[in-house]
Amino acid sequence: MQLSSLPETALSARVRTASWAAHGDAEGSGFMAQLMAGELPAESFAQLVAQQWFLYDAIETAAVGVADPVLDRVAIPEVARAAALAADAAHWFGPDWRDVVSPLPETVQYCDRVRTVAGTWPPGLVAHHYVRSMGDLSGGPMIGRAAAKAYGLGGEGVAFYRFADLDDGPAYKARYRELLDEAPWSSEDQDRFIDEVLVAYALSTAMLDALA
Ligand code: HEM
Repeated sequence: MQLSSLPETALSARVRTASWAAHGDAEGSGFMAQLMAGELPAESFAQLVAQQWFLYDAIETAAVGVADPVLDRVAIPEVARAAALAADAAHWFGPDWRDVVSPLPETVQYCDRVRTVAGTWPPGLVAHHYVRSMGDLSGGPMIGRAAAKAYGLGGEGVAFYRFADLDDGPAYKARYRELLDEAPWSSEDQDRFIDEVLVAYALSTAMLDALA
């Protein structure tokens, strides 16, 4: 379904409208602008890989213990990214990468938020999953291409941006939106979901700004 033909009340359309300005802030962050322009030092890109590993490890670990009708269908192994980020980290930092990387305070704050909502309110974890997965499948390929070009990479070091196990990214994104629209959440939960998406964007942008 075209986004423009969705009823205004559809959750997928509401969240997109409510968060598009926040998306602009994330996309327009100095760090992303430098990366897209091929002007980001390789060390900074490597740090992005490391910080994202902490984040995706937190999201994917938290998801294991959470039951939610939307999360169960969207948090599928084909979109899990922690393993790809671990491979990328090994490329950038060497086999002992786990001993040499540590989370920034902004990353710790982001991960703490993910764990807190996961433990108290499952739709909140969907909000965090949504911002990362939909973003990685939308802007991700462009970011991956920019990085590969800037650092002269084949596929190594940017596995995160290649969803090797996902057959059809656009179909997954369309299904994600349908699942949100059919979510058996109360209207209060739907409103809170939108608020948590905004929190996820703010935490993402803070992490990017800290990396800049
Ligand atoms: C240079 C950086 C970025 C570019 C070029 C970019 C580009 C895009 C584009 C073109 C779309 C629309 C895709 C569509 O309509 O299907 C999109 C959607 C999205 N992006 Fe980004 N993006 C960037 C950064 C980010 C960041 C940093 C985040 C999150 C932290 C993010 C999260 C999202 C989300 C959640 C959506 C889906 C919104 C929806 O339609 O429901 N993006 N992005």
